[in-house]
Amino acid sequence: MEKKVTYAEAILVDEIKVLNVPNDPNDLKLPKDLNDPNGPNDLKLPTRRIIVAGNRSGGVAVAAMRRWPEAEVVAHAFDYHHARAIRKRLLDEGLPARNVRCSAGVGTVGTDPMPSVGTDPMPSATADCQPFDAAFFMTTPQSMPAELVLDQLQDIHANLAEGGALYAAFEGDPDEALKTMRLVWKNVNVLKRAKHAVLFRAVKRGAPVKMRDFAATWEASVPGGEPLTFTTYPGCFCHRRPDAGGLALAEVAAREVKVESRKVKGEGGKVNDEEEGKTPFTFHPSPFTILDMGCGCGLVGLLVVDAIRRQSSILNPQSSILNPQSSITLIDSHARAIAAAKANAARAGIEAEFILSDDGLPRGRVGEYDLFVGNPPYYSDYRIAEVFLETAYRALKPGGVCLTVVKTATGLLALQEKYFRKAEVIKRRGYCVLRSVR
Ligand SMILES: C[S@@+](CC[C@H](N)C(=O)[O-])C[C@H]1O[C@@H](n2cnc3c(N)ncnc32)[C@H](O)[C@@H]1O
Repeated sequence: MEKKVTYAEAILVDEIKVLNVPNDPNDLKLPKDLNDPNGPNDLKLPTRRIIVAGNRSGGVAVAAMRRWPEAEVVAHAFDYHHARAIRKRLLDEGLPARNVRCSAGVGTVGTDPMPSVGTDPMPSATADCQPFDAAFFMTTPQSMPAELVLDQLQDIHANLAEGGALYAAFEGDPDEALKTMRLVWKNVNVLKRAKHAVLFRAVKRGAPVKMRDFAATWEASVPGGEPLTFTTYPGCFCHRRPDAGGLALAEVAAREVKVESRKVKGEGGKVNDEEEGKTPFTFHPSPFTILDMGCGCGLVGLLVVDAIRRQSSILNPQSSILNPQSSITLIDSHARAIAAAKANAARAGIEAEFILSDDGLPRGRVGEYDLFVGNPPYYSDYRIAEVFLETAYRALKPGGVCLTVVKTATGLLALQEKYFRKAEVIKRRGYCVLRSVR
């Protein structure tokens, strides 16, 4: 298959091919006039550590590794799916892939560069890692929201050594791109303007123009529950507010686990909800296990665990935890989602397992869960939604419940029925929650 190279990738790769490499390590030549695109353009050496960010194909890392074979080139991606694609590309090109990093920020340190379980929390400006000597960053209007671009420019600044150079390629309006660069970087130099892309160079000299904290904190609750506090970062799904589809799913799921002592007929028995008169609630024998796939900031899973915790304390006022063995696993392919979910679970005092993966649970894990909740993305023509449902089917115990959410039921309904034979449609907040039993 022919590889699609974006304009931003092409301009960066071309630049890497022609960058001068002076012999003197201290010889950092900069144009006298920083806006002179014809001035000397050298990369500071020894360039031992190079970070490549924003490039999903791996093409920029390939070019940097070929140009500077002695250097340690780290290729960063936020999403595990992209990290896997980069890794594959490097291996296909016969290059080492040990430095592909899927993490919430470029400076996150980990013994496993592509951890399969969990990530470190958001790295701060003083992330505990060796600074990079040079950075190659690219962005296209489709690949990153504006706040994520700024956040990543800040993160790169924080993780670059003093005197280190950033080469940043933008697609879209070049004047807007320059404004964006200048919000974070001083001395931004326009190196090249090509068709549809512009390339900047900026050298780190002291502090950035401004450091902004782009994290957002807000509250969400299910009916009858207390609000839980959530934090999200740029790059997280629905940054700054709860998603209505996620809330619809959380509300239906919270009813699913609802147990009122006067209504309980016995472990494993059915309980009718007199107030709402809709879905009968199933009282699941404990310990209760939940899998939240595509967890984002943990909105759905954490609200459900909190609902169980509250139920438990109603049933057993002596203890706020009815069954300490109840557990939740949160999966997402995006490192910032996992970082946010981790922070939110810790704040709520909820112990959880976190898995950074684009392929569901590890293969050997089957039949572990009582409840699956998933609010899948639909941009891939249901390909990712199918990964969710395949995981749900594999992960649930017999009798376990699968709940997914979608705006219009048709497409997902057919897919869910392919795995679970039947799916009930529960309308909520303008969304359809699809309920199946394994
Ligand atoms: C629609 S959002 C739902 C987020 C959250 N559950 C909510 O309701 O607010 C979908 C989430 O799925 C994640 N995702 C996309 N592809 C995935 C995959 N293959 N495996 C796991 N998560 C994935 C995205 O990163 C995103 O966080």
